[in-house]
Amino acid sequence: MAKDSLTITDNRTGKQYEIPIQDNAIRTADLRQIGGLVGYDPALTNTATCKSKITYIDGDKGILRYRGYPIEELAEKSNYLETAYLIVKGELPDQKHFDMWRHNITIHTMVHENIKKFVDGFRYDAHPMGILVSTVGALSTYYPDGKDIMNLESRRLQTRRLIGKLPTLAAFAYRHNRGLPYVYPDNDLSYSGNFLSMLFKMTELKYQPDPVLEQALDVLFILHADHEQNCSTNALRAVASSQVDPYSAVAAAVAALYGPLHGGANEAVIRMLQEIGSVSRIPEYIKKFKAGEGRLMGFGHRVYKNYDPRAKIIKKVAYEVFEVTGKNPLIDIAIELERIALQDDYFVSRKLYPNVDFYSGIIYQAMGFPLTMFPVLFAIPRTSGWMAQWAELVRDSEQRITRPRQIYTGEAPRSYTPIEGRPEPSMREEAVATTI
Ligand code: SDX
Repeated sequence: MAKDSLTITDNRTGKQYEIPIQDNAIRTADLRQIGGLVGYDPALTNTATCKSKITYIDGDKGILRYRGYPIEELAEKSNYLETAYLIVKGELPDQKHFDMWRHNITIHTMVHENIKKFVDGFRYDAHPMGILVSTVGALSTYYPDGKDIMNLESRRLQTRRLIGKLPTLAAFAYRHNRGLPYVYPDNDLSYSGNFLSMLFKMTELKYQPDPVLEQALDVLFILHADHEQNCSTNALRAVASSQVDPYSAVAAAVAALYGPLHGGANEAVIRMLQEIGSVSRIPEYIKKFKAGEGRLMGFGHRVYKNYDPRAKIIKKVAYEVFEVTGKNPLIDIAIELERIALQDDYFVSRKLYPNVDFYSGIIYQAMGFPLTMFPVLFAIPRTSGWMAQWAELVRDSEQRITRPRQIYTGEAPRSYTPIEGRPEPSMREEAVATTI
C-alpha cells in the first residue's frame, strides 16, 4: 500500500531518508536530519506557516469560502457584521447572538478624545494609511489589558474594540485630510452606515446614508474580510508570535496592507486608469506592461490563477452604485483593459486575471472617496480576519516565535584592520555600493 511519505536519497552521501507527508505537506524541519538541510522559499511562495480553519481558497478554480461558506452566498445574503461574527467565532449567529455581537461592537465605536490630538498633529495631506498605522498602534497604550493575550475574555474584548474602532479611526483620518470637524459615531446606524456618517455628515442633525451605497459598502466589506495567509495577515502573525498585544500586531498588518502590491493596489489601479485616460491608449499601455515597464495593477495574484471571485461580485456592485452616483467613466477603460489583457498571451500564459482591487477603486471613487482612502477601506473589514487569525495563532500549541533561517552569502571571516591600513576609498565605495 502506498505510504504517506517521501524517500529522499542524499546523493552526497548515498544515505536515504523517509520524510512523512501529512495534509499533503512535509515538515521542513524534517529536512534538518539530512546534513542540516534547510528549505529555501523567499516570499514563502510554497510554504505553509500555519494550519487554519478560517478561509479556504482554491486559486485554480477561483473558489473563496469563509468557514466553509462560499463568498458569493455571503455577499448576496449576509451583512458585514454577521460575516465578521462567522469569521471570528466560526459559525453564523442566531438572532440573539447577532444582536449581542452588534451591541458589543457598537459600544466600542468611540475612541479616547486624545486620539484627536495626535491625528491633528499630522500634516493636512498625510496619507490616511500612515495615520491609521499610527492610531491603531497607539490603541495599545490605551488598552494595556490587551497584553493579556492568553486570557479568552481579554482576546474577545480586544477583538470587539478593534472591529468597533477601526471605522472611527479611519473616518477621523479622512476628516483631518479634509479639514473638517470629526464626526462621532451614530450608534443608531448600521456598521457601514455609521462609517458613512462619520465620513460625510456635514451640518445636518442626523446623517441618513443612501441605502444603495450603504449596502454596496457592506458587500465590499464582506469581500475584504479575510483571505487566508496574505502579506498583511502573515505580518500580523509574525509580529503577534512575539506575544505582543493585538493592537501592535494589527498596526503591523495595516503597514503591510499599505503597500502598492497589496492593499494599496486599489489606489494604484485608479492612478493607472487615469494615466491611460482613454480606451484608445490601452494598447500602448499593454505593450508597456508586457515589456516590464510597470504592472497592470489590479491584475494577478499569488494564489488565484483564475478570476478572483471577489472581482466578479465587485464588478456587479459597481453598476448598482452607478445607479445612484452616476457612472464612473473609468469603468469603460477597465472593462476594455480586462478584455484585451485576457486575450493576450502574456497575461493568459502567466494566469493574470483581475483581482479584488481591479474594480473596487472605481466604486470607491464613484462614492466620493479620495484615492488615498482606498487602502483604508480595505483595512477596516480585514480587521475581523486579522483578529480571527490572531486568536488562531495564540491558541495554536504548535506556534512559537517566528524566526526563519537564512542562507548566508556574505564575506568569509576577516580581521579588523586599522583605518590607515584599509583599501582605497574607491574600492570601499564599490563594496558599499553593492550593500545599500
Ligand atoms: C491583494 O495575497 C492575497 O490574498 C492578497 C489579497 C488579499 O485579499 O489579501 O488578495 C489582496 O493584495 C491583491 C493583489 C493586489 N496587487 C496588485 O494588483 C498589484 C499587481 N499585481 C502584481 O504585482 C502581482 O500579480 C502580485 C503581487 C499580486 C502577485 O505577485 P507574484 O505572485 O509574486 O507574481 P510575480 O510578481 O512573480 O509575477 C509572475 C509573473 C512575472 O513575469 P515574469 O517574471 O514571469 O516574466 O507575472 C508578471 C510578473 O512580471 N506579473 C505581472 C503582473 N503581475 C505579475 N505583469 C504585469 N502586470 C501584473 N499585474
